[in-house]
Amino acid sequence: MTADRPRSPAEAREDEAGFDASLRPARLVDYVGQDEIRNRLGIAIRAARERGEPLDHILLCGPPGLGKTSLAQIVAREMGVACRRTQGPAIERGGDLAAILSDLDQGDVLFIDEIHGLPRKVEEVLYPAMEDFELDLVVGQGPSARSLRLALKPFTLVAATTRAGMLNAPLRDRFGSTFRLEFYRVEDLERIILRSAGILGIALAPEGAREVATRSRGTPRIANRHLKWLRDWAQVHSPGEEVGVVQAAAALELHQVDPAGLEPMDRAILAAVLDRFGGGPVGVESLAALLGEEPETVASVYEPYLVQSGYLERTPRGRMATDLAWRHLGRQRGLDVVRQGRLL
Ligand SMILES: Nc1ncnc2c1ncn2[C@@H]1O[C@H](COP(=O)(O)OP(=O)(O)O)[C@@H](O)[C@H]1O
Ligand SMILES: [Mg+2]
Repeated sequence: MTADRPRSPAEAREDEAGFDASLRPARLVDYVGQDEIRNRLGIAIRAARERGEPLDHILLCGPPGLGKTSLAQIVAREMGVACRRTQGPAIERGGDLAAILSDLDQGDVLFIDEIHGLPRKVEEVLYPAMEDFELDLVVGQGPSARSLRLALKPFTLVAATTRAGMLNAPLRDRFGSTFRLEFYRVEDLERIILRSAGILGIALAPEGAREVATRSRGTPRIANRHLKWLRDWAQVHSPGEEVGVVQAAAALELHQVDPAGLEPMDRAILAAVLDRFGGGPVGVESLAALLGEEPETVASVYEPYLVQSGYLERTPRGRMATDLAWRHLGRQRGLDVVRQGRLL
């Protein structure tokens, strides 16, 4: 890549992926926070290793950037097995999955990301594979079709989803354990940020780390992205100096991350609920249409944090803004819609 050519979106994504990989925790001891999950997994891994058995299938649920992929890779590493990675929507036919499964070695981890996107037909191939380590294959067509049963080597399926609610019950029930990842506490994000700063060679003061942590929506991937912005900012504005609160705040303000960690899209969602729908309730489809986003993206990427941190409430009739949302956007309930529009 030359410096004078703008990066293509694909190159930018690859960069981002490389950056993610360099900061990704490799072992369970490096995995910060999510204490209950770490403890339960640690015990399960140790017990399975001692018995010389593969680990039970694991389902990881939670919003993007909380560490599902990292955890899947850690499981494989701690078990001392290979990790084969794929994505639910990428497996189009049952035969594709059958090929992947029969290629696995004893005890290997198969990581299926975004498992809610697995086509129904493919899911049916997965059931006997998960339960009995068997493949039911149909060979031939029409009246001469025969079904064939093929034994697989025992393996561990680690699946991840941002939409646990979209999984069919029969699939959900076939996992030995389900872990729901939670947004990280500020203290945990601080530790992650300081570790990442060390890897990236950024001289970050503890107060600077705290400032980044409080503005990172409880999400390690966002914290690391903020750190990258901070590194650029510091290199230009205060080279060689330790990065403290003031620098951290300035760098994040530049990227329109507010003191509560909300980004332009978060604020646009809240503003839409307040100004266009009088505070709600509003359905996610109408909201997404207004913002030019996919309902799926609004529901799985943006909303979870807004709900968790008390800006939005999910009700049976739709999304409602809370008092916190009105205050955060500097609006007063009951002002007429036109005037609020001008405050935007
Ligand atoms: N528990 C953790 N401890 C340290 N870093 C983490 C942790 N969880 C996630 N990260 C960081 O966040 C990035 C995104 O995590 P990832 O596992 O890709 O999330 P997900 O698969 O849930 O979207 C990782 O590259 C890693 O640097
Ligand atoms: Mg992932």
